Amino acid sequence: MFNIRPHQVFHMVKPEDRKITVQLPTSRTALSALETFILMALFKAIKPQKVFEFGTYLGETTLTWAYNLEGNDSKIYTLDLPAVQGVEFQGRDEWCADIATSNHKYFEGKDEADGIIQIWGDSLYFEPAELLNSIQYIFIDGNHMKKYAAKDTENAITMLDKTVPSCVIWHDYGNPEHPELTKYLDELSAQYDIYHVQATMLAFYLNKCNIAPTAFDQ
Ligand SMILES: C[S@@+](CC[C@H](N)C(=O)[O-])C[C@H]1O[C@@H](n2cnc3c(N)ncnc32)[C@H](O)[C@@H]1O
Repeated sequence: MFNIRPHQVFHMVKPEDRKITVQLPTSRTALSALETFILMALFKAIKPQKVFEFGTYLGETTLTWAYNLEGNDSKIYTLDLPAVQGVEFQGRDEWCADIATSNHKYFEGKDEADGIIQIWGDSLYFEPAELLNSIQYIFIDGNHMKKYAAKDTENAITMLDKTVPSCVIWHDYGNPEHPELTKYLDELSAQYDIYHVQATMLAFYLNKCNIAPTAFDQ
């Protein structure tokens, strides 16, 4: 696992692309402001046509991507549970899933929702046959137990478009509520170059794209 500073991610974005529009994250378990900026820096560096999110929750992050998506054919796929029955949870995940399954998503009824495709299901049984090698930006933030995170990661690697710059990002690396997720990602980093961004719980893998050097790039 490589440890990097936030500015190394911000410097991946061309100066003319550093403007973003954000839906303010409001939930107690939402991403921090810095995490949102890191997610958006990777988004601006990759410029994805297709995005996949494991764990929609209330759709605040989904909506932020939708505000910044470029291209007429661009799509955001976001997967969440229709109900919690039959799913195992750890830490505050069940509390989150209860809220997610009993509330509307923030993007519902908004113009930006046109590019958003909500998928309902348990990610443990998700089969991405129609999306193989087609997604440039994947965010894994669903169920943080190892068996779910490992399945989501396997699916993410098969969906990742390896022909252009692309990335897989995980949330909750280093979260004491989910020690087995951190261990899993540490083990995975023997196989893939994975970067943890200091002062965040984000870790990411980059394909055909590099992080910025530590010195200022201009
Ligand atoms: C931490 S929240 C996601 C937060 C969201 N990515 C954001 O940025 O606002 C985790 C979500 O994963 C969903 N989830 C939990 N277990 C799941 C499973 N097995 N399959 C699909 N979604 C799951 C929960 O319902 C919850 O909405």
